[in-house]
Formats: sequence, structure tokens, C-alpha cells
Amino acid sequence: PDIVTVIRRKRDGHELSGAEIDWVIEAFTHEIVSDAQMSALAMAVWFRGMSRVETARWTTAMIDSGRRLDFSALGLRTVDKHSTGGVGDKITLPLAPLVAACGVAVPQLSGRGLGHTGGTLDKLEAIPGWKADLTTAEIAEILSDPAVGAVVCAASADLAPADRKLYALRDVTGTVESIPLIASSIMSKKIAEGTGALVLDVKVGSGAFMKELGEARELARTMVELGTDEGLPTTALLTRMDSPLGRTAGNALEVREAVEVLAGGGPDDVVELTLALAREMLAAAGVDDVDPADRLRDGTAMDRWNAMIAAQGGDPAAPLPVATHTETFHADADGVVSELDAYKVGIAAWWLGAGRERQGQDVQPGAGIELHAVLGDRVRAGQPIATLHTDTPGRIPDALAALRGGVRISDTAPVRQPLVIERIR
Ligand code: URA
Repeated sequence: PDIVTVIRRKRDGHELSGAEIDWVIEAFTHEIVSDAQMSALAMAVWFRGMSRVETARWTTAMIDSGRRLDFSALGLRTVDKHSTGGVGDKITLPLAPLVAACGVAVPQLSGRGLGHTGGTLDKLEAIPGWKADLTTAEIAEILSDPAVGAVVCAASADLAPADRKLYALRDVTGTVESIPLIASSIMSKKIAEGTGALVLDVKVGSGAFMKELGEARELARTMVELGTDEGLPTTALLTRMDSPLGRTAGNALEVREAVEVLAGGGPDDVVELTLALAREMLAAAGVDDVDPADRLRDGTAMDRWNAMIAAQGGDPAAPLPVATHTETFHADADGVVSELDAYKVGIAAWWLGAGRERQGQDVQPGAGIELHAVLGDRVRAGQPIATLHTDTPGRIPDALAALRGGVRISDTAPVRQPLVIERIR
């Protein structure tokens, strides 16, 4: 095949053959197909879509561009969770040790944040000493340690390298928001990571990739099919991301909240989603005789957290970093918080330094937003609604402006929406 023909065929709405897809992904990985050509093809896919058969082949080709991890020799049941990303989504932090405490190992290769959504590795890196980079042998050792059993670490460069290159291009060419491209990107990494089962948390709402329920459902179905077709038992929950999860958005702030959940407290929505996903993961791994709520209550999930952080060089007892400056955001009227927009809160946290503008930049561990009132709370004019944390106070005005655009106080209470909307399998 030649690349210009492949681009034209997709542009004109034809279905690509398996051989064409294999060749394109391989040639792109080895820089025979240029970034310009791959960007054109991604845009053609954005407009024309891909069939189920094409998407499956594209996913397999991206997995085969690198190495597949295999933990089956350890003789453990394993399960992982992936979230499509949201604001205040720290669920992996309590979830991984909780599921490990229920007897199922969690091998999670995770990412860093870009834009308004945070990355799990950025959050964990706020913990003094904690290291994201592990060798495969180190991952296997931690997974099989009966006192730990959970690993959250960076994916090595040889895991789906075609996706790494393609995602960087999509990010700068307006081609991220395509269901077949998102589904193949996420599933190629999760299948290559070698987990025994997978649960997807597909976010819907202002703070998510997918703003509408219909498109989120289609993304979830596409990913569940890709996993199932590859022999990876996969289920998905569609969950709300109209407002931030919990009361914090920002790296160290979110770690603190995750630890509160592990200690048996924490915000109700974070606890609810952690338990819902833990139950899904245990079911996917074939475990039905443990209630994860018991493991939160009896402290075993907290023990696993401490062991998991220490196994990666972190000091779970060390004080978390604190930003140098704070500012308070006040309610401007009496009433009920009727809107607390996830996207706007995410942008405000990003302005404060919790997120990055370009890949490879550092984030501020202490930066972010701490909410003192959440959706449905009654407030009085002048009452503090949020504290802004940052090391770069010059950015506070922009963060305040973003927040102001995302908070509405009115006379009527918002209609309560369920956090977990639907289950897809
Ligand atoms: N996350 C990914 O890993 N890939 C996408 O395409 C979108 C979100």
C-alpha cells in the first residue's frame, strides 16, 4: 500500500483493509509514514469513522507496535480500571489498594494529565519520594507481594508506541474527539498492559470528553467490544462528570482526600464511586464473597495504600506539599449552589498550576481548588465557597474568573442526578 492512497480511500469513505491498517501503523511507528500524513489520515478517520472490524484491527496493530506485558505466570487474579478522565477524579488512589485488599491484584499503567483533567501519576508524584517508573520485574514483584498487590506506575516507552506518537499528533491537530480513535487508544494500552479483566469508567458531562450520554454510550460499547473480542473481560460504567468529584481538584489536595476515603471518611460521591467500581472489578475477576465496604471500614485498604506507596519509594506518612499562596472565593448571593461546572473548576485548577499546557511540563504539587460548598448546598452571601492554592499568585485572577463562570447560586435546588448512570457489558 502507499500512504496517499490509504488517506484518499479513508477520505472518500471506504473501509480500510486489515493489511492497509497493519501497514500504516507499522510504517508510522518507524517514521516511514510522516506526522503530516498520519495527521491527514486521523482527520479522515475523524470525519468518516471506522467500522468495528477496522477499529479492532487498528487496536491490534497499535498493541503489536510494542510489547505486551504478561503477568499470567504469577498465578494471580488481576483486574484494572480505566477512567476516560474528569475533574477531581482521584478514584484510582483509594480504589487500587481497596481491590487489592479484597484479594485481586491491580496492575495499573497510568498517565499524566493534559489540559483541564488531572493525571493519576501527577497526583501520586505529590507524595514525597514516590516514583512512577518501574521495571516489569519490579511490577511483578509488587503485584505478587501479599502485603501489597497493587501497582500504579508509568507505561514504559515500548507499550503501544504507535499510540503514544499518534496521541501526541491528535492532541495538536483537533483529532482527539473521535470514538474509534479514543477507543483504540485506550484499549491498545490496557490490552498491552496484560490485565486479566478491565472495568471502564466512562465519564459524561461538561468535565468529560463526551458531553452527551449517547456518545459516551457509544464509546463505552466500542471499548467493551474491543476488549471482549480480544479475550479481555471488559465492562463499563457511565458516570456523571457535570460537577467535580469530591471537594478537591489538584494533585496533593486530591491525595489528601483519597486518604480520607481510605480512613473511612471522605466525600459521599467519592466513596460511592470507589465502592461501585470496586464491586464491578471484583465481579469481573470472579470474586463475589467480599464486600469492599468492609475493607474500607476495617483499615485493610489503608494498610495496602501505605504498602503500595512505600513499595514505590514514597513516604505515606510525610506531610504533603502545600502551595505558597491561597485566595478565597466567596458566594455573591444567598441561595443554593445550583451549578458547579466541572470543566470550569478544572480550568481554574489548571490556571493555578495543577495541570500542564504542554507535554513534559512540571505541575505544581500543591496547586488546585478546595471546595467548601458543593452542588445543592445552601450558602449565604460572603460565605467561602472555595480556596484556591498556587505557587504562582499572578494566575489567581484568571482562576477566579474561570470559577466565577462555573458557579451559580439560585433560589431553586438542582435536580439530583445519579452518579452512576448505566452499566454496559
Ligand atoms: N485517553 C487516551 O489514552 N487516548 C485517547 O484518545 C483519549 C483519552
